[in-house]
Amino acid sequence: MTKHRLLIMNDLSVEEIHGLLQDADAFSNLKRDWQLDKAYLVANLFFEPSTRTHYSFVSAEHGLGLKVVDPNMAVSSTVKGETLYDTVKTFEMVGYEGVVIRHPQDYYFKELDGINIPIINAGDGCGNHPSQCLLDMLTIYQEFGHLDGLKLAIIGDIKHSRVARSNYDTFMRMGCEVKFSGPDFWIDDSQKYMPIDEAVAWADIVMMLRIQKERIPASEMPNMSDEEYLTKDGLTLKRYQKMQQHAIIMHPAPVNRGVEIADELVECERSRIFKQMHNGLLVRKAIIKRAFGGKF
Ligand code: CP
Repeated sequence: MTKHRLLIMNDLSVEEIHGLLQDADAFSNLKRDWQLDKAYLVANLFFEPSTRTHYSFVSAEHGLGLKVVDPNMAVSSTVKGETLYDTVKTFEMVGYEGVVIRHPQDYYFKELDGINIPIINAGDGCGNHPSQCLLDMLTIYQEFGHLDGLKLAIIGDIKHSRVARSNYDTFMRMGCEVKFSGPDFWIDDSQKYMPIDEAVAWADIVMMLRIQKERIPASEMPNMSDEEYLTKDGLTLKRYQKMQQHAIIMHPAPVNRGVEIADELVECERSRIFKQMHNGLLVRKAIIKRAFGGKF
């Protein structure tokens, strides 16, 4: 069963990525509900706040006919000092057949080698966010019909973003050109950097990121107002006018309107931000189907 874990995007071959995207696409076209062979018992262990990932996993699990438990991890025995391994092992020993985990620690799953039920990583600290990467990919496929040769600009707080990390490696692997932009103190590799005005005009996909304040020590927060940040490092209306005609706006969300992106652009014609959220449901159904070896 452990072969059906999904921890990082590099767990997946290019063929498996295509397979998951095809399954997600199939879920969008199904005329009737499709369910797994058995109502597996799963738990969603969210040690960090989440709206999209958490509740789209819940929706996907219910849609596939699973039995779903959604514990409040703030009152679990981890607050009494239990290790993450012991907590997850407990779920396994009392009959849970799969877990979805979001945790603030980078690569938390390295502690979980001894777990024998599928683990789906719903985000680890500044590390990885594989289901977000897949839903971003599905959104881009729907738009352009391919990935090869597309230019992706990821703009914002790169240093603290698991989305940037998962997406950079995977989109490069899929044949895209990827550049980072935003405040230069959050980008450690000048080879990957492009100034924001250049990046916005260059890209087929302009992917904005919020400042991940929950992971930034106060001493490292930029000393500027929201308005100053938007003007200097965000997607303003003026920069939007410089985008290519076919280019789209994406954002993993939650969005801080008026900080990394102008409020009016969040739902503008070229924004795919809410479409990404719907695609999150489709992709997560595909991930769960894979976790339990489901076949259409
Ligand atoms: N994009 C994303 O992971 O959003 P949530 O934190 O709301 O799950």
